Amino acid sequence: MSHVLDSISFGAIVTVRDRLLAQQAAGRRIYRLESGDPSFDTPPHVRDAMIEALKRGQTHYTASAGIQPLREAIVRKVRRDNELPIDDAEQVVVTSGGMHALYLTFRALLDPGDEVILPDPMWTEIAENIRLGGGVPVRVRMDLESPTPWTAAQIEQHLTPRTKAIFVNTPQNPTGVVLSRAVLRDIVALAVKHDLRIISDEAYEHVIFDGAQHVSIGALPGAEERTISLYSTSKSYAMSGLRVGYLVARDAAFLTRVKKLLRCTTNGVNSLAQWGAAAAIAAPQDAPRSMGAVYQERRDVLLAGLGGVDLLVPYVPRGSFFLWARIQPSWRGYRGVRTDEAMTDWLIDEVGVGSSPGSAFGPAGAGWIRFAFSCETSEVETAAGLVRRVLATEGRTAARAPGSDVRPTP
Ligand SMILES: Cc1ncc(COP(=O)(O)O)c(C=O)c1O
Repeated sequence: MSHVLDSISFGAIVTVRDRLLAQQAAGRRIYRLESGDPSFDTPPHVRDAMIEALKRGQTHYTASAGIQPLREAIVRKVRRDNELPIDDAEQVVVTSGGMHALYLTFRALLDPGDEVILPDPMWTEIAENIRLGGGVPVRVRMDLESPTPWTAAQIEQHLTPRTKAIFVNTPQNPTGVVLSRAVLRDIVALAVKHDLRIISDEAYEHVIFDGAQHVSIGALPGAEERTISLYSTSKSYAMSGLRVGYLVARDAAFLTRVKKLLRCTTNGVNSLAQWGAAAAIAAPQDAPRSMGAVYQERRDVLLAGLGGVDLLVPYVPRGSFFLWARIQPSWRGYRGVRTDEAMTDWLIDEVGVGSSPGSAFGPAGAGWIRFAFSCETSEVETAAGLVRRVLATEGRTAARAPGSDVRPTP
């Protein structure tokens, strides 16, 4: 008997990470460009707030939807920065990272067989959470050759009577595409026309480059009542291990379902992490701004480092901390295999540089590779140099015998 969880993978990125960590344990220098974990320390005022909460003894159960000071800080933040028309803290739910916000949303929104539109490529966990919620992911291919890679017109071609929602992610993982206000307006118009819900994942709202503006779709006219907006403290405040995210919505029936699901799953987020998040969100937003500026520097370092590599054509990201690059057909492959997985294997085996094979992000990702530039700038620079060296000398390296610590490529 099969179960829905049998169709969920452990994730290609986790496999890459495990291989890299095994090599590190064996004494090899590795470069973690597969993982989107900020290298920055969690800001001092966030850590201090957690220590103070601990000293005050705030280690007991909290309201399962979150502590009031945090929910109120979120209300102020989403009204001010995201321009969301939120009435009060009852419309905010604190979650165990953005991941749990996604799970709760799909589980509370979908009936079996409901279809959800999402971009292709897209961070793997979205399709999997849709399936966990009983839904069917419907991928709409992004056209990265176009100045508007994902549009309402493309989405409309994939609507069916079973379409329930459109999932929007801007800035996007893995491509770094930032959707403009005009594109988002068209998506809202489509959602209104077909009476669809909008799920807006804004985990990278603060990681945005070249002066681009992050627009929250839930703020646009017509979207207010039909949008569920999801956020994370992981990337904005370098709090990935503390696991605090939140969702914001105006639909009372949806929120009631989410609160029931919360009570029966995590029953609230770790109390100390919530006090830390309250400090992060209530304080002036200098920390996310300055981290955003460093990510832009790292993007430029990586783009410059890969500049002379003929085998990879990068898509210039305007947000998030990922570089999405197309592998050129002239690549001769690794051990006779010419897939993106083989290129990921090759870079690990040759120079200990992590990456994520594009296929992990959906069919449109085949033949692409993703590098994360959330690790230290110096590591990004060194890793780019190593990748350049391997790719520039492909004939010699491809013929060389692999090291003994290396997993055979299937
Ligand atoms: C697009 C997107 N949404 C949500 C998340 C969830 O992050 P977290 O669970 O750490 O808050 C991630 C994490 O990588 C992501 O890439």
